[in-house]
Amino acid sequence: MCGIVGYMGSSGVASILLSGLKCLEYRGYDSAGIAYINDGKLKVTKASGKLENLEKLLTSDRSSLLAVSGIGHTRWATHGVPNDINAHPHFNEDQSIAIVHNGIIENYAFIKEELEGQGFKFNSDTDTEVIVHLLTREYNLEKSMLKAITNTVKQLSGSYALGIISSHQKDTIYAVNHHYSLTLGQGDNEFFLASDIIAVRQYTNKVLRLDQSEIAQITKTDVSLYDFSGRQVKRDFITVDSDPYLINKDGYKHFLLKEIHEQPTILRQTIGKYMAHPTANLDFNIQPEPLANSSKTVAGIHLTKNDIAGIENILILACGTAYHAGMIGKYYLEQLCNIPVNIEIASEVRGRTLLVNEKTLVIAVSQSGETADTIAALTEAKRKGAYTLGITNRSDSHLTRIASNLIITECGVEVSVAATKTYIAQVVSFLMFALYLAQERSSLSQEYINNLKLELHSLPALVETVLANENIIKESSIKYAKANDMVFIGRGINYPTALEGALKLKELSYIHASGYAAGELKHGPIAVLDSSVPVVTILMPGSVYDKTLSNAQEARARNAQMIAVACSNDEKAPKYFDTILAVPPVDELLSPVLAVIPLQLFSYFISDYLGKDVDQPRNLAKSVTVE
Ligand code: F6R
Repeated sequence: MCGIVGYMGSSGVASILLSGLKCLEYRGYDSAGIAYINDGKLKVTKASGKLENLEKLLTSDRSSLLAVSGIGHTRWATHGVPNDINAHPHFNEDQSIAIVHNGIIENYAFIKEELEGQGFKFNSDTDTEVIVHLLTREYNLEKSMLKAITNTVKQLSGSYALGIISSHQKDTIYAVNHHYSLTLGQGDNEFFLASDIIAVRQYTNKVLRLDQSEIAQITKTDVSLYDFSGRQVKRDFITVDSDPYLINKDGYKHFLLKEIHEQPTILRQTIGKYMAHPTANLDFNIQPEPLANSSKTVAGIHLTKNDIAGIENILILACGTAYHAGMIGKYYLEQLCNIPVNIEIASEVRGRTLLVNEKTLVIAVSQSGETADTIAALTEAKRKGAYTLGITNRSDSHLTRIASNLIITECGVEVSVAATKTYIAQVVSFLMFALYLAQERSSLSQEYINNLKLELHSLPALVETVLANENIIKESSIKYAKANDMVFIGRGINYPTALEGALKLKELSYIHASGYAAGELKHGPIAVLDSSVPVVTILMPGSVYDKTLSNAQEARARNAQMIAVACSNDEKAPKYFDTILAVPPVDELLSPVLAVIPLQLFSYFISDYLGKDVDQPRNLAKSVTVE
């Protein structure tokens, strides 16, 4: 989704802003622009489409190379179509103030009517434009940009982040954060601003994350922080030593392929973090991580044995792929810990009474830690007194400030918009957490726990075996690239795998695909089947193997093209399926981790074969920061 960058220093602003925007491309966008001050005047350049369009406009504009302060933006359209006018930055009539904005201003229609009544002229269809006119009105009254900003934020509702530049105060840019994310980076007589630490880390390892409802006044030599009432706040930049935020493709054709191949390493890191070796105790009391450079940092599980014993039910909140990981989490927590678990798509709990209390553990799962619906639902659960746990890949995210307990998956940045490596890290995190609860609540024998720990440690090598067959999977996949529709079916612990397989195919190849519980096929979906529809069955060994195979037969009887994800030692599968995407034999509880790998590759190869934008599929955003 939208991305903000800013720069205040002494070298060419255009290239620095563009390079920051390139780092944010992965979030998804449909137009881009920058505003900068040159020769005392504010200039704005923007273009719809990819960043190359903006870059072309800027190469013929020497003033942007000389300027030393500016703000930039990639826009993912919410209010108004993606075009040059709706692109950010937005500026006022005399072009003295320009802003870039992430988020949504919920009361913009009301403010717009009021401002129009006062003679302000609007050019765009965006909610953003009201902010620039409000700032203008307040500046005309106060003759101070800082006061204009504090007056303006008091009139806005919603969650948002802003970058502001003005020819009234040429040596300063401003950043505003209200329930969003903005990070500052400190260089040598220069400061960088970005919605994602990735865009700052390419220049400096001294970073400061803005807290909620905070304003930063940024000059070449200094940053002053203020709360929304205008009171100064003191906080220092911190030094980040590790480099999880430096990104490159490492020779792979796409980030997606690289990230699929990183999965064995990610599993080793995520499992190893909480359980150093197969016979070690699960330890979630990890020390606070310095990357969460805000005023509050938690990491690890801080629930006491008594807290854990007292948990009566669990609610999991998530969206998209993280929701599928949560469904597997529900299975683990119910089967291993005997605790009733509900799971909700986070956007579906808005406007409803959330039935949680002091005996409920609410688990929010979010790769980015910024998904607005997930954050809002978790915030409400916390307000109601529930225990909170966040599972996220970003220790510097919004989620880490809200959840009182945290599991950080160790995946590094996931650049491809489609989630792969973070999904399997979430699944194994759920399994390890369920084992931890089971151990603390004595709901499983130690022998059973020990066996599962051994199996967990063998997972990375099994994933390597699947990846080694990549070429066979490629050949099998592209045979189905011409399909218009596909159906994915699975049961029990692999019903979520079917949903995830269908989601990956949809988002990467734009082929329509639906996932169903295999037993549901005959209750309706079977009507769509004929010889033109490939059906992918997740046929893993275990309690539901025979029933899943029967359901697949129902599809076969309708002449569907039959594909199975099955174990390499499965003797029955070759009799019923045209294509087998093989994985090594595996315990049922761990099978979702293995079964999803060929499905990720299946979607990748079809997408690449069809010439789609693999890493940045159309219309999608990596961080979904609007509700
Ligand atoms: C699909 C995908 C999305 C995200 C969803 C939630 O490949 O990536 O469905 O899973 O937008 O995002 P997070 O996990 O950041 O909350």
